[in-house]
Amino acid sequence: MRVLLTGGAGYIGSHTAVELINAGHTPVIADNYSNSCPEVLNRIKEITGVEVEAHEIDMCDAEKVDKLFATGAFDAVIHFAGLKAVGESVSIPVQYYRNNIDSTLVLLDAMTKYGVANLIFSSSATVYGNPERLPLTEDCATGGCTNPYGWTKYMIEQIIRDAAKANPNLSAVLLRYFNPVGAHASGRIGEDPSGIPNNLMPFISQVAVGRRTHLSIFGNDYNTPDGTGVRDYIHVVDLARGHVASLPYCASHKGSVEINLGTGTGYSVKEMAEAFARVNDIPVPYQYAPRRPGDIDACYADPVKAKELLGWEAQLGLEEMCRDTWNWQKNNPNGYKGAN
Ligand code: NAD
Ligand code: UD1
Repeated sequence: MRVLLTGGAGYIGSHTAVELINAGHTPVIADNYSNSCPEVLNRIKEITGVEVEAHEIDMCDAEKVDKLFATGAFDAVIHFAGLKAVGESVSIPVQYYRNNIDSTLVLLDAMTKYGVANLIFSSSATVYGNPERLPLTEDCATGGCTNPYGWTKYMIEQIIRDAAKANPNLSAVLLRYFNPVGAHASGRIGEDPSGIPNNLMPFISQVAVGRRTHLSIFGNDYNTPDGTGVRDYIHVVDLARGHVASLPYCASHKGSVEINLGTGTGYSVKEMAEAFARVNDIPVPYQYAPRRPGDIDACYADPVKAKELLGWEAQLGLEEMCRDTWNWQKNNPNGYKGAN
């Protein structure tokens, strides 16, 4: 299939491009590089031997998106494009709502006009807010998001559900990612956050590489076995393969469906820091610090629906997550900047 990846130069999009190529598909990337850089394209070529067609384009620009679709002949779209920094979304909410929602509306218009029927959307476990129960099944209550970023995901899911109801040709898979970590085993593509990382694994790896002195563990009085927060970390290559597995399902169904992409296993912050140190034989000093506002005790998926509908389940474990995160970090201590 010829698959448009909006935001395809980003962390999850670039890994998905590689897995699509491995599975015989043709990804086409559209990205404005607001949180990525074109060097990613060279890296994808290094890994796969394939030069990916790429367009520098803001997905909110309706005219340019229309032109892209006019000649694109896409069989499906995976919509990764979006701003994703939780803290930043609290400071500049309107930009977050505009970018994430406008890009989706523009995309839906173009898909309708050009008869592109299959849409896969990057949603997030954040739509569950404070989990109604664990493990999270797709029918658990959503809403109660603690930040504008989370609300954009909640609202976009609803927009896509409504669009699929109104357009019987549209098929949408709303993938609710749990906590993506790790990198391609080659160490050539990975997560490259700008500034101080908010998320746990990039922070741990920057401590290990010496860019930060220690990890602050936000809270050790949660209602979890060791008191630190528990999350469902999923290797980004597994996650990427979840998109590949969604394509045939999307193409053979109509309407919209929500699917968790997680492993079903939760690990605590302390377990993650200690596993990283053990697997990579490198110290990860940590200190306890106050809770981070908006954080919850625990969050992990029930992954059964993904197995039933997509025939997909996570294959890679904690060891690979820690090993591949470190392999990427140590080979690219400054991310894609100063790349060789
Ligand atoms: P990322 O920032 O690495 O990738 C997003 C890409 O979208 C970037 O390359 C950015 O330049 C591009 N982009 C942003 N706005 C755009 C626009 N208007 N037009 C064109 N391109 C635009 O993020 P990621 O981690 O790869 O996440 C991909 C998607 O998955 C996002 O929608 C994110 O919200 C969602 N998601 C991510 C996580 C996570 O932890 N990484 C968890 C749940 C959901
Ligand atoms: C966060 C976002 C969520 C987003 C997800 C993936 C919040 C409230 N939620 O989820 O919307 O979808 O990232 O991008 O920000 N931790 C530390 N020290 C650190 C960093 C993190 O102890 O320096 C802890 C956190 O308290 C949490 C765990 O590590 O218990 C995971 O944190 P993080 O990677 O930010 O993911 P989430 O909080 O699950």
